[in-house]
Amino acid sequence: MNKTKGIVIAFLAVGLGLSACNTGAMRRNPGKTYAPDMTYSQAYDAYTHNPNFADGETSRLPVSGTVAMGHELPDHLVEGDTSAYKTFNTSMTFNEAELAEGARLFNIYCGICHGTKLDGQGPLFVSGKFAAMPANFKDGKYLHMPVGTMYAAIKFGKNAMGSYASQLDIKQRWMVIAYIKKFQAENGGDAFTMGTPATDAATAHTAAVAEGADTTQQKH
Ligand code: HEC
Repeated sequence: MNKTKGIVIAFLAVGLGLSACNTGAMRRNPGKTYAPDMTYSQAYDAYTHNPNFADGETSRLPVSGTVAMGHELPDHLVEGDTSAYKTFNTSMTFNEAELAEGARLFNIYCGICHGTKLDGQGPLFVSGKFAAMPANFKDGKYLHMPVGTMYAAIKFGKNAMGSYASQLDIKQRWMVIAYIKKFQAENGGDAFTMGTPATDAATAHTAAVAEGADTTQQKH
């Protein structure tokens, strides 16, 4: 067989192969369905009755403990555990833009009572319509307040102050606190103490490993 013949035969073979895949409508029919439940799933529409669940609802709540994408893990801070509040901290640190966001959130959610100058003289309190005195963040008692205690006030509320847990996610709470602490550091309060968790053993361990320490012999 010479070269030209070989090429012609090769072309014919490819052509035949291609046409075999496309021989009209008949060949496109998948044929008989032997297990229709597998081919066509028996779906339940969102609001139809669903016999697979005791309550008959097809739309389900997320499994408990589910963390939505892009959200932080739960903080595990329990209401009333005030000694845990004092040492509670975060490893998050914030840049200027995030501190500005903290200020923005503070002015929206907290300024009405605590005042946009953070002096406890917000318009709601000044108007006399809200009797309880909001914390004055310039005041000695609050200047040195641990960040975890502040976090607990936002998460659980404090006496006349309600909880802001549903308005502010974990990162937003810390951004608001970072803003308050920055302001306090500039007004005679403690320096900005976030980003250096003191008691979180797991974080301390991770930090030690990151610094190259041999932690295998340590108790955790
Ligand atoms: C409706 C008014 C009101 C709003 C809004 C409000 N607070 Fe308060 N807050 C108070 C009052 C009143 C107190 C004093 C509670 C007490 O000690 O009895 C307080 C206390 C606090 C304390 C001190 C907690 C403690 O343990 O003594 C912190 C921290 C605080 N607020 C932060 C915030 C932040 C952050 C926001 C915004 C997310 C906010 N508050 C929104 C009224 C308010």
